[in-house]
Amino acid sequence: MAILFTGIKQLLTFAGDNAPRAGAAMRETGLVTNAAVLVDGGIIAAAGPRAAVARHRLAKKARKIEVNGVCLPGFVDSHTHAVFAEPRLKDFSMRTAGASYQEIKAAGGGIISSIGAVRRQPLKAMAGQLAARAARFLDCGTTTAEVKSGYGLTLESELKMLRAVRAAARLTPLEMLPTLLAAHSVPPEFNGDAQKYLDYVTAVILPKAAAEKLAVFADIFCEKGYFTPEQTTSYLKAARRLGLLPKVHSEQLSNYGGTRAGAAAGAVSADHADHVYAGDIGALRDAGTIATLLPASNFYLGLAKYPPARELIAEGVPVALATDFNPGTCPCWNMQFVLAAACTHCAMTPEEALCAATVNGAWALGIGDRAGSVAPGRQADLAFFAAGDYRELCYYFGANQCVLTVKKGKIVQKGNTA
Ligand code: NIG
Ligand code: FE
Repeated sequence: MAILFTGIKQLLTFAGDNAPRAGAAMRETGLVTNAAVLVDGGIIAAAGPRAAVARHRLAKKARKIEVNGVCLPGFVDSHTHAVFAEPRLKDFSMRTAGASYQEIKAAGGGIISSIGAVRRQPLKAMAGQLAARAARFLDCGTTTAEVKSGYGLTLESELKMLRAVRAAARLTPLEMLPTLLAAHSVPPEFNGDAQKYLDYVTAVILPKAAAEKLAVFADIFCEKGYFTPEQTTSYLKAARRLGLLPKVHSEQLSNYGGTRAGAAAGAVSADHADHVYAGDIGALRDAGTIATLLPASNFYLGLAKYPPARELIAEGVPVALATDFNPGTCPCWNMQFVLAAACTHCAMTPEEALCAATVNGAWALGIGDRAGSVAPGRQADLAFFAAGDYRELCYYFGANQCVLTVKKGKIVQKGNTA
């Protein structure tokens, strides 16, 4: 049965071009006041002014829901590490005592300290834990999330993580797109020999993940002490030959060359971008690579420096926003916090931040033609908020203002008033 969501004070559609938004287009929200959205069979049948939508042939018999708030496309969280077995509370304590990312790594914390429990965890428990986390994403208005492996760093454990994403997708309505991040760090078995480990990933893990269609994307952490720009380009090119779309963690801790290496390999997105300079920004623009900013991780690490969103937008690079939800540097699944951080610390406007969290997030996952905007024929992924003005989503922070989440036309979360 069709559903008519009506009484919407403000609807942001982000309808328009079938491409990632760049420059001034990031500020075009497609705002409709006193709006309605009609959904049928998991797809948006009509969206726009209330009176116009009410005239649609399906509207009369539709189930009517008065929502009385703000409606957006469901958030597309295009960068998460949502599969992990245990929180990293020791890292947290060290950080509160003043230790840096690199100091925590040197003391045996960081990414590598997540691998023991992940390797031991049975697939079923891993999938159950991920599905429980997915419910929290949905509660906060996220309807699609990318999920990375990268805490196993062996063939068996990396594939287990990806299989857990597949298994969890049967337990939750959250749509999850899997990414192979076996090149996240060099596991202890390789005694710091990054090239040897990467050869193993390329020869063994990558082909297997591709053959079993366990991942859509391949990602690599390009940073001093992890993988070099040269390794990044050749690894991502190998991934591409196997049908995996390249992504890169780049310029998070220093200006090291990962952004240009990713752009050279045709990366869909280059993520973090905290330390990008003009040359990197030009490379992103020329390659059509999206810059995915993760300011909640900067916040959580207590960093003074945030990614230069204004420069990226001014230079015409499409910008996306994501949580980077992970057990070390960003245990936050709420895209609403990311909006607030982007506005307050990266000088993004609320319009740009909302565009980055929806339509551009969808393009960062290659699904902008079906998700991330509200228009007839698009997937009916919607998030409703207890607000009178969309700017309140960026203005209030630390709370969850989402009251209703709709995934593929089905109500999947309802009633939160916090
Ligand atoms: O995006 N930079 C590398 N990866 C993650 C950190 C993951 C972790 O610390 O477990 C990131 O911040
Ligand atoms: Fe990350």
